[in-house]
Amino acid sequence: MPSQRKCIGILTAGGDCPGLNAVIRSVFRSADQLGYSVVGFRKGFEGLYDPVSFIALNRKNTAGILNRGGTILGSTNKGRFAATVGVADRIELDAELLHGVKHTVGQLGLSGLICVGGDGSLAVAQQFHEYGIPVVGVPKTIDNDLSATAYTFGFDSAVSCATDALDRMHTTAASHDRIMVLEVMGRHTGWIALSAAVAGGGGVVLIPEIPWDFDNICLKILDRERNDKRFTLVVVAEGAELPGGGLMTREPNQQIGQSGLGGIGEVVAAELERRLKRETRLVVLGHLQRGGPPTTFDRVLATQLGAHAVRLVEEQRFGEMVCFRPPDILSVPIIDAVNELSRVQPGGALVQSARALGISFGDSPTLESPFVGDRCNGNGNGRGSAHRGGEFSAEVASATP
Ligand code: F6P
Repeated sequence: MPSQRKCIGILTAGGDCPGLNAVIRSVFRSADQLGYSVVGFRKGFEGLYDPVSFIALNRKNTAGILNRGGTILGSTNKGRFAATVGVADRIELDAELLHGVKHTVGQLGLSGLICVGGDGSLAVAQQFHEYGIPVVGVPKTIDNDLSATAYTFGFDSAVSCATDALDRMHTTAASHDRIMVLEVMGRHTGWIALSAAVAGGGGVVLIPEIPWDFDNICLKILDRERNDKRFTLVVVAEGAELPGGGLMTREPNQQIGQSGLGGIGEVVAAELERRLKRETRLVVLGHLQRGGPPTTFDRVLATQLGAHAVRLVEEQRFGEMVCFRPPDILSVPIIDAVNELSRVQPGGALVQSARALGISFGDSPTLESPFVGDRCNGNGNGRGSAHRGGEFSAEVASATP
């Protein structure tokens, strides 16, 4: 590592997402212009301590990575660095770790450490800051659940992937008159599910923020059939709760104190097939959403965030996180970013638009075209008629146990 120049450290922590390499490239290039060298720590926070593991970034090893998914530095959402900073549920980092990280930063003479991560990793960065380690945060996650920024990079790429899946499912579902269920990621929020359902022609979307039940989904599917749409695409977020409450989980992950989510799609597909006696198929998109090249939007956003993070280090604005407040790239205290997650607002604009299109959230009877019956009946009151509602209820009743 060149010793004459000032130096900045960067690491990528937590689950990976498309755009991480664009941030790394941007940090290297903009730091280089300001006279810094840059070191990249391996495997998230793990590379900061025992054993310290990093690479010196340069033009060569940051070339050709703008459009590459994943992270050339590696990442982990497991291991020794798991912390929270919420007032009620604060989990402290081990003092030995904090001391070790501070020592590493001092030994390498780092002017600042850029931590790229989601809410969990930024909570670690916040504890570093409180310990006097000069950190700057960059938000990332496909879930888009950080409230301090309008969008996190990775989200747009994940939605594109889910939308592409729906486009493909659409043609095969229509050919076979099938119900097709797509399970997408989204631990606490339904941003991916909702955005993909709007962009990909979903008929039903189930998200953590809006309680739903099977009767309403069945009503929607039967109503579509009445309107000659003999297939339906159902998008379900992995974090959507079951009608009686409770999440579907995989193995509990002891190290990070969280359970991996997954399995709700299977429950939904099986129950719809049982109730409606229609052929149903399930697609679980899983980590396809996190892999592959970032979209143009994510490349531009990640590049701007990286360049701004270097400016924050240069101005010694430590404990801050860069954020996107369209059209500006600004910064906020990291603590503000991790204290409140961004969730889909049930009365928000995107939900309203989806409802206006006739997309069902499974929370109420949602007709495909509520005005058709009125026009045919000539009752002219401009609202869906009670007759139609009654008819569908009867039909659902006969199709359900
Ligand atoms: O937080 C991002 C995320 O992709 C969630 O949507 C998902 O629940 C989780 O990470 C999956 O994590 P892992 O890669 O550990 O299975």
